[in-house]
Amino acid sequence: MQSLEGRVILVTGAAKRIGRSIALALAAEGARVAIHYGESESDARRTASECGNAPVFQANLESVSEIRSLYDRVADHFGRLDGLVNNAARFTRFDPLLIEEADWDFIHSVNLKSVFFSCQSAARIMLQQPEGGRIVNIASLGAIRPWQEHAHYCASKAGVVMLTRALSRAWAPKISLNAVAPGVIPFGNTDERTERFIAKTPAQRAGTGEDIAETVLYFLRAAKFTTGQLVAVDGGLSQT
Ligand SMILES: NC(=O)c1ccc[n+]([C@@H]2O[C@H](COP(=O)([O-])OP(=O)(O)OC[C@H]3O[C@@H](n4cnc5c(N)ncnc54)[C@H](OP(=O)(O)O)[C@@H]3O)[C@@H](O)[C@H]2O)c1
Repeated sequence: MQSLEGRVILVTGAAKRIGRSIALALAAEGARVAIHYGESESDARRTASECGNAPVFQANLESVSEIRSLYDRVADHFGRLDGLVNNAARFTRFDPLLIEEADWDFIHSVNLKSVFFSCQSAARIMLQQPEGGRIVNIASLGAIRPWQEHAHYCASKAGVVMLTRALSRAWAPKISLNAVAPGVIPFGNTDERTERFIAKTPAQRAGTGEDIAETVLYFLRAAKFTTGQLVAVDGGLSQT
């Protein structure tokens, strides 16, 4: 396993929740973390200070030009990029008969389009480095299980899984790409639907940000021979 000590790793959507857990776990392993946020500046600054005063980078990931500028700024700051965790995403619930174009674009612009252009921007840096790099995309159980009121979200996350696989071929052997599919990872109060999912989970508990971070760190440390893979971190929920 590679050490993460001194590795430069960008985490998108790192201000809060799962992204924050990933950033904190990386910093604890000695990585130099770049904290991306969209709107949660104060949370991002709090996470950054707990990551040893990591630098913060704002970008609206709906915009390809803002994504490109984000990577320019990260490369200017660190002079390199060893890892990327595409964590930022949106989640909405709709009866599929009622989805309008804007509702579709709201999800897909961030969950799928931004993940592609983020991977592309990172790869343009990583392919210039003798050591290449590692990319981990955060998918969802919804990429492999069909949730009827989240058809648009499920499609975006299934797209993330296929992007991970296709790009792992495109950029091998210098860059590994893998995906993690979280199960139910609640923060704060849970609604009745979430409670039902937790009750069905063989592990008999909800997941935590730390559970997801552990598998993300595995992929960031693993040999690049491990690539194009998806691991569900869901307490066994996908097996029910
Ligand atoms: N929580 C779960 O149960 C669960 C289950 C399955 C999969 N996942 C996946 O795990 C990842 C993290 O989940 P989470 O629940 O922690 O996520 P989240 O809180 O819903 O979103 C993470 C961050 O994404 C950022 N983001 C969204 N749209 C953006 C945009 N246009 N530009 C820039 N940043 C944007 C937001 O940053 P700002 O707040 O800074 O704007 C937000 O804090 C996501 O990919 C999610 O799909 C989560």
